[in-house]
Amino acid sequence: MKEGQEQINQTKIMTIRGEKVVLRPMTVGEIPIFYEWATDSDSTPFWYDDGVIPFYEQFTQDWGRHYFDGSDPHRGRCFTILIGNRAIGDINYNEINRNKDSVELDIIIANDTDKNKGYGTDALKALTNYLFQNMNIRLCWIEVVSSNIRATKAYEKAGFKPSFTFISQGKECKHMELSNL
Ligand SMILES: CC(C)(COP(=O)(O)OP(=O)(O)OC[C@H]1O[C@@H](n2cnc3c(N)ncnc32)[C@H](O)[C@@H]1OP(=O)(O)O)[C@@H](O)C(=O)NCCC(=O)NCCS
Repeated sequence: MKEGQEQINQTKIMTIRGEKVVLRPMTVGEIPIFYEWATDSDSTPFWYDDGVIPFYEQFTQDWGRHYFDGSDPHRGRCFTILIGNRAIGDINYNEINRNKDSVELDIIIANDTDKNKGYGTDALKALTNYLFQNMNIRLCWIEVVSSNIRATKAYEKAGFKPSFTFISQGKECKHMELSNL
């Protein structure tokens, strides 16, 4: 894709404003920092709790270009979480299930110093509101290892409710949902 084309696609999804954070569509140029947040930050153990860290090539295969260039908003989009001008992490939605108008979210705030300040809750509220109002989404869902109390609390504060539990790699996990109904 040409640079100009990316610019056009970037404008399809606007910057989303929360009360504390701003969510800016992440760009292709930010893939390396997103990789660092995911694989080499305080939060890496929460995203790769099995300890299997992907190489950059694998990571960019898993996170296709559409997450960053806006070329296919229905297949997923990453947003940079900003405090002022400072990028602190990623929040994203994945491929939309149009049979159910539902979508899974992920979130990571890289440094411990930026946690427990309400930024995660605010980012989740801002993105879910955006998806309900602009993308015809009816249900957002997110999954979390039950022992991750901070994430569970942030999701609850953003309005998510536990729907069921399941075991993944020997650990109890919660499936949590937020409906706009
Ligand atoms: C999960 C995450 C996005 C939450 O964002 P955050 O900005 O840190 O969360 P918030 O500040 O909005 O809310 C966290 C809440 O948990 C509480 N909390 C934190 N640790 C806790 C603990 N051990 N026991 C009880 N409560 C705890 C905080 O006090 C806060 O609640 P409060 O506002 O009522 O005081 C962020 O911490 C993160 O990126 N963590 C690492 C990656 C991760 O776990 N991703 C999710 C994988 S499913």
